Amino acid sequence: MASLQLTSKAHTGVTVTPPRRSSARAHTSRSPCRRLGRHASVCVGASASSSSSSVSASSSSTSSVDTSLNAFVASLKPSKTVALTDLARELQNDGKDIVSLTAGEPDFDTPPSVAHAGIQAIKSGVTHYAPNAGTAALRSAIVRKLQTENNLTYAPSEIVVSNGAKQSIWQAVLATCGAGDDVIIPAPYWTSYPEMARLAGANPVVVETTAADGYKLTPDTLRSVLTPSSRVLILCTPSNPTGAVYSEDELRALADVVLSHDRLLVLSDEIYEHVMYAPATHVSFGALSEEAYERTMTVNGFSKSFAMTGWRMGYIAAPQHFATACARIQSQTTSGASSIAQEAAVAALELGPRGGKVVEEMVAAFLKRRDYCVRRLSEMPSNRISLDYGIPPGAFYLLPTISGSFGCKHLPSGEIIKDADDFCRGLLSQSDPGGLAVVPGDAFGSADTLRISYAASDELLEQAMDRLARYVSDLGEC
Ligand SMILES: Cc1ncc(COP(=O)(O)O)c(C=O)c1O
Repeated sequence: MASLQLTSKAHTGVTVTPPRRSSARAHTSRSPCRRLGRHASVCVGASASSSSSSVSASSSSTSSVDTSLNAFVASLKPSKTVALTDLARELQNDGKDIVSLTAGEPDFDTPPSVAHAGIQAIKSGVTHYAPNAGTAALRSAIVRKLQTENNLTYAPSEIVVSNGAKQSIWQAVLATCGAGDDVIIPAPYWTSYPEMARLAGANPVVVETTAADGYKLTPDTLRSVLTPSSRVLILCTPSNPTGAVYSEDELRALADVVLSHDRLLVLSDEIYEHVMYAPATHVSFGALSEEAYERTMTVNGFSKSFAMTGWRMGYIAAPQHFATACARIQSQTTSGASSIAQEAAVAALELGPRGGKVVEEMVAAFLKRRDYCVRRLSEMPSNRISLDYGIPPGAFYLLPTISGSFGCKHLPSGEIIKDADDFCRGLLSQSDPGGLAVVPGDAFGSADTLRISYAASDELLEQAMDRLARYVSDLGEC
């Protein structure tokens, strides 16, 4: 196929394995390895995820530096979403005609009043270390928001503000899970959950869901994977990468199963809460009952709803002992989040209920774009690409199934498309009418799909859908 490599400089799907301290040399001499700069080599086996693949940060033959790595880091996969976003940007910088729908971020700018609050913070000298768990003003504003919008009652001391929800989730996983604990992750999942579990030394238990169930976990499926080792269930509603939203009834049915277990907690990732299309409504797992509240760590943030990805603002709200543990981790790693961003976050929460008119307008734009992409997808050959789990009512992603294209010939290369990686590589390298970057579904534990982020301008989406339509209709025999 084309010369574009999904692995490029930002390696994807390659397992990192540190050489044992005594055998660093042996690693470097083994083939098939390729040197990556001065201090590392990459050794790729048959499949990106196979145990024969390894990246060894091995010492050069003249160096005596022991470059072995932490064994948990050794098991980490780099984020494919980040890698593809970077690759698309690199190709664009090289002058290639690429439309990228890889990144999970709104194309809108941060609302002016929010940006202004950040500028004011700098001008007025709010530029010193902030309190570890967040400023009093922001924690109080979060408490009010959770009470009025989510029916969740927390004390300010039960809120921990971090540098993005990603850090909040990581700290919650690290605080509650370790060796011997299972983290239950319904697939398709946000790409970082399993890696965070692994990094904490816990065991990610990925649970398949079906398109027929709208890619939502059912109580029976949850029950079937519970063991005494089950520690945390991660739920994401609205979901990245499917856009699925759990109804209150569905959450209640899951809560019954959760509460039947001795020690299972729920990490409820609600970062797409406001990106939701009527008649769907958001329900917080912790608001279902007092028992559910006791077991729930609620994560939310500002990146998606308020177009504030670069400000790095997220938070966790959890019963005191869990919040205290998260704060303790933060105090010894990053300390308090940016004082400037926290001022801006307060202003975001002052925009009004659910972000007021500003957020309402962004969500209306997302809805229009979703409907456009859904229509365009429905006009493509359904045996090659189809949105078979329904029209998702939240977030800004679509996860069409493309397995009908596997086994088809990619023209003009003549190669057979074996999987989502091949499909996406061919799409990226298309020269007429140009390339399109999307993320293969295996990054989300969903091998038969690809993820489209429609948080892009109308013009870009039109080009993207033209490119996808052309690619799919130009596929050769299957
Ligand atoms: C489901 C989900 N949770 C958490 C995050 C982290 O968001 P941030 O760290 O920008 O607040 C993301 C970002 O892509 C996400 O998609």
